[in-house]
Amino acid sequence: MPARTPIVAANWKMHKTVAETEAFLDRFLGGIEQLEGVELFVCPPFPSLPAATERCRRSRVMVAAQNMHAEPHGAFTGEVSAPMLLELGVDGVILGHSERRAMFAETDEALASKVPAALGAGLTPILCVGETEAERDADRTEAVLGSQVEADLAEVDDDRLADVVIAYEPVWAIGTGRNATPEQAAEAVAFIRSLVAGRDQHAGGSIRILYGGSVKPGNAAELLAAETIDGALVGGASLRPGDFEEIALAAADSSASPAESSGSGADGAAGSQPRTAPSSLAPPIFPKVQTGFPCPRSRWSFSMAGAWLRMARATRSPRRPRPCSTSSGRATRTRPCRRAGATSACPMGRWATPRSVT
Ligand code: 13P
Repeated sequence: MPARTPIVAANWKMHKTVAETEAFLDRFLGGIEQLEGVELFVCPPFPSLPAATERCRRSRVMVAAQNMHAEPHGAFTGEVSAPMLLELGVDGVILGHSERRAMFAETDEALASKVPAALGAGLTPILCVGETEAERDADRTEAVLGSQVEADLAEVDDDRLADVVIAYEPVWAIGTGRNATPEQAAEAVAFIRSLVAGRDQHAGGSIRILYGGSVKPGNAAELLAAETIDGALVGGASLRPGDFEEIALAAADSSASPAESSGSGADGAAGSQPRTAPSSLAPPIFPKVQTGFPCPRSRWSFSMAGAWLRMARATRSPRRPRPCSTSSGRATRTRPCRRAGATSACPMGRWATPRSVT
């Protein structure tokens, strides 16, 4: 069973000058020196990245940018590339934040290039997905999450999926003070995990999936107690070193003693060991893999993933082999499929029946 160390990341958005970044870190780094069992990121605006990497170099805190271009260089005025971030000592990059999707026309197509570009450069991508309030009200949460996850990870090889960090950030919870309930967050995160498991079972158990949206000291422990949630992407509360420290402590505590969560049982490690994947991630089963239309463009099988999620809740039968596509719509993959009996035809890639997670 793979171990998953929680991550708590501070998305400062367009806050903190260089001087303010230094002041924050001077205070924050002293407070978390002894903290174990959690990985920490700060994500300042571009101009503050050098100050952050300089301050964090001898600490256990990592630094991530808030965006990047997929190309390493070129005529892209106003953009920065992965090699430029690496040169500054940056460790990761937030991609696909809903503010970039809504206000700066970030598309799934662009993200499909950015995520593998970040991975290829050695940066940890923190990919944000999430539904709007209208989409949730229309019972389209899973459809939205499914299409974002499918599209944004389409060009990531199966053996790199687990290196991506996904942040489930319902748009209606961002900056509103109205966080998702722990049940809503856990169910959406479990659904995202099932999608990844539908592509690669090992990655489904290993990938870190965070929750973001009005996380603060007062609700962090409750939100992070859900065993399938592997940490938090924090906006407003991360601007205050004391608050961010409290949230980091809550994540470390959750990894030390994971709570019982519905359906998955408590199989986390004791003490300061990282938590383990929930037992609900027992080998998935794909009872009805061939449901109809062929899907030439995707290696994903969302109907299969949905079937797995439903069946995994009811039974723990051993997994049946699933078909595996070797090509996507963007580029034919040359890496041979590792699964026995794989074919180049993907039976799915679309939603059969969107189902609400509420
Ligand atoms: P808030 O924590 O301010 O709601 O922001 C969440 C967020 O957007 C993190 O990326």
